[in-house]
Amino acid sequence: MTVSSSSGPDTGTSPWDSQPHEFDYHADLVDGAIPERLHGALYRIGPGRFEVGSHPVGHIFDGDGMVSKFDIGAGGVHFRNRYVRTKAFARANSTSRPPKGFGTQRVGGALANALRFPENLANTNVLVHDDSLYALWEGGRPHRLDLETLATLGVESFDGALKRLGAFSAHPKTDPRTGEVFNFGLDFFPRPMIRCYRLTAGGTLDGVATVPIPKLGFVHDFALTERHLVFVLGPLVVKRPIPVALGLRPFDDALSYEPDLGTSIVLVPRDGGAATTIEYDPLFHFHVTNAYDTASKTVVELVVHDGDGGWSAWNGHLHDFRNHPGPAFGGTLTRLTINRAARAVVREPLSDLGGEFPQIDQRRTAAEHRFTYLAQASQTGGNPDSITSIDHSTGREDRYRSSGDDTVCEPLFVADPAESAEGAGWLLTVEHRPAAASSALLVLRAGRPNEGPVATIGLDHHIPMTFHGAFRPDWR
Ligand SMILES: [Fe+2]
Repeated sequence: MTVSSSSGPDTGTSPWDSQPHEFDYHADLVDGAIPERLHGALYRIGPGRFEVGSHPVGHIFDGDGMVSKFDIGAGGVHFRNRYVRTKAFARANSTSRPPKGFGTQRVGGALANALRFPENLANTNVLVHDDSLYALWEGGRPHRLDLETLATLGVESFDGALKRLGAFSAHPKTDPRTGEVFNFGLDFFPRPMIRCYRLTAGGTLDGVATVPIPKLGFVHDFALTERHLVFVLGPLVVKRPIPVALGLRPFDDALSYEPDLGTSIVLVPRDGGAATTIEYDPLFHFHVTNAYDTASKTVVELVVHDGDGGWSAWNGHLHDFRNHPGPAFGGTLTRLTINRAARAVVREPLSDLGGEFPQIDQRRTAAEHRFTYLAQASQTGGNPDSITSIDHSTGREDRYRSSGDDTVCEPLFVADPAESAEGAGWLLTVEHRPAAASSALLVLRAGRPNEGPVATIGLDHHIPMTFHGAFRPDWR
């Protein structure tokens, strides 16, 4: 099957080449041995196409969402990919013009862009919960997909519980003890606020709290502890809304890094009590690894980037992703220890290696974790080419490095169902191989990525670099 409307290149010689085709086949290019106990479906999501008709999209965040599914079982691996059938996707197909995105303007000048919010591209993350699959995009509602076929079933409002803008961020956190999913959405009317939600194990969405924030800004991720939702609100804020509202500039142009504002760390009790705000030095980050509470402290780990006046340059690279991805993949894994009573914060770097897309054994979500897994770029300013496992108890860093110009993406940890110890399992990532114009699923031992993949499952084609993913174990 082919998504015929995407007419751009699909050579597969770059991780940022479009994949206009939709596939469904048994992947039989297996090198090594797929672990016997590794059974389930890996879902990966990211932008599937970087142009529509003759028009390139203008920012790495702005391609239409495409979900890839690797069904791993005794018979091998079945691959399937589908675009999410969003309204934006349908409109782009009918007009042969890209949607309005975070950094992409609609074709047609100011009139075509005035008073228009970026379109929901369903391209950022997936959530598997209560036998449902959701494609997430942080500024709007999730799209519900069929777990098996990846068919788009519709836009989800959780029986109207998603209010107003309907924003449901792309980084929900599942508490492994209770099975509840916590998440948030930004809203800005009548004033900037964070709406906090809990999705019960049975799939009902409840509002936990609505927390006013001093300035509308960019908040991509948060952390969960046993008692709190933790928001680290850096000073990347809306500063120039007027030219954007008038359609003269793309949406991301409204944002400005304002270090004088510092960072507000907001602790929202999971039971809906009053939030606590602690002011701290300016921080620029996208992703949070994990967090946990002790009697007097809250510890948050996240990947911090150099934001020293550099948002414009940094974001410029995300516009120019085809040529130079810039420092996007080279952040510093960092621990913030917050003394809640003293309202004091201690910051410490946890690794010298630049990286992004931090992951853990998700059975440790909201508790202290021993291992962090990262995608890293060996060269500053390059695409990610390495998967690293960091053991915080020993300081050991263990790394798999792709060969040549191959690139990798976020490593997802999958637990060995026969083992309960943290870190006993595998890391799954998708490697892009420009020389072969194809991609491959890699299975690495979680504690020993340097030993190389225990199994490599080659695809017949490439898929563009994915942002995030989820694994749904199959215990059958
Ligand atoms: Fe993300």
